[in-house]
This record gives sequence, C-alpha cells and structure tokens, in this order.
Amino acid sequence: MVKRIDQVLDACPVMPVLVINDVKQARPIAEALVSNGVTTLEVTLRTPCAIEVIQEMAKVPGALVGAGTVLHGQHVRQAKAAGAQFVVSPGITTELVRSALAADMPILPGTATISDIMMGMDMGLNRFKFFPAVLNGGIPKLKAFSGVLGHTGLRFCPTGGIDGSTWKDWLQLPTVACVGGSWLTSGNATPEEVAKRAAALGLKKK
Ligand code: 3PG
Repeated sequence: MVKRIDQVLDACPVMPVLVINDVKQARPIAEALVSNGVTTLEVTLRTPCAIEVIQEMAKVPGALVGAGTVLHGQHVRQAKAAGAQFVVSPGITTELVRSALAADMPILPGTATISDIMMGMDMGLNRFKFFPAVLNGGIPKLKAFSGVLGHTGLRFCPTGGIDGSTWKDWLQLPTVACVGGSWLTSGNATPEEVAKRAAALGLKKK
C-alpha cells in the first residue's frame, strides 16, 4: 500500500484539487493539466457530477485520477467503482482507513495534529495530507511534526492555502512529497486558463 501511495505522491509535485461542476469540462480540464505535466488529479466528491468527472478524467491518457473529500467507506467504494486510483480525505477516521484498506485503495488521509498522524500510523499508514496546511501553522508546524516523527519515514502532501507563489517553498521540506491546491482551476477557470496556470509551474510537458 505504501508503495502504491508513493507512486501517486511521486508522480507529480503538484496535485490539483478539482471541484468540477460541469461534466463536459472534465476531459478538457484534465487534458489541459496533463499536457502541461500535471498528471495527478484529485477530483473532490463535492459536486453532483463528481463520480462522472472521475470516470471521464480516468479516460485521459497519462492522468492518474483520485477522489478527494472522501469521507467514509461508501465514498471509497463509489470512487473505486468509478475508476479512481487513490483517495484523499480532509480528515481521518478508523472507519474510513479500514474501508480503504479493505478495498485495496491507496489512501491519503488528512491530518492536522500529531494524534491524527499517530492514529494513522496505528493502522499502518505513514503517508498523510496535512490540512488545512497554512491555517494549521504552515511550514513551521510541519517542520515540528517532522522533527518528532521524521525518523519514521513519514511523508506529507500539504494542502490548503498553498498557491503558485508558495508551492515550491513546501517542497524544500524533506518530508513533503508533493503539495495540493485548488489554484490551478479556481474561479471556474476555462481549460485555456487552466493550461496557462499549469504551464506556469514549469513542469515537463507531456
Ligand atoms: C482541499 O479541498 O483540499 C482544499 O480546499 C484545497 O485548499 P485550497 O483551496 O486552499 O488550495
């Protein structure tokens, strides 16, 4: 499981958090991202069409599509059936983690405290989202977590309040595998605008 979630974390340094309201936009937005090197796509289960969006984005060559805002086991199973290859959650519960493990689904649960992380470690995880990253103390807090727990080999994807001007700062931390954020698609950006923002990251184009 750790190997598979690492494949997700290492696929791209930026994981866009996508809130897509129109399924017709799914493929053009995924293509705009993937063609600019942004290959890991977190589709939040916050819109009525989110499951269809996962199905559409999963058809885009080179896209590694996961479900975000996954809150419980039922979401895990829906996401898997739709073709999601990983799940991300804003928080952590035993029901959620056990459901993901039972479904053989790589999971990145949200953590904000050492106790959250310890709960995940108890269940065999050591890859976590740090959320909401900036409001929770930002880079200094994650450094403090890493000071205490870094020897365990844990890794994070900080998300929440990170944008095009700060994403690289987070990646300087040895425990940060990649960063998440909505800035590439926020404000109902068109596929053209998404492509422009993704290109500004300067990743290798596909
Ligand atoms: C999430 O869904 O993970 C966050 O809402 C993303 O945070 P951001 O909008 O501050 O990037």
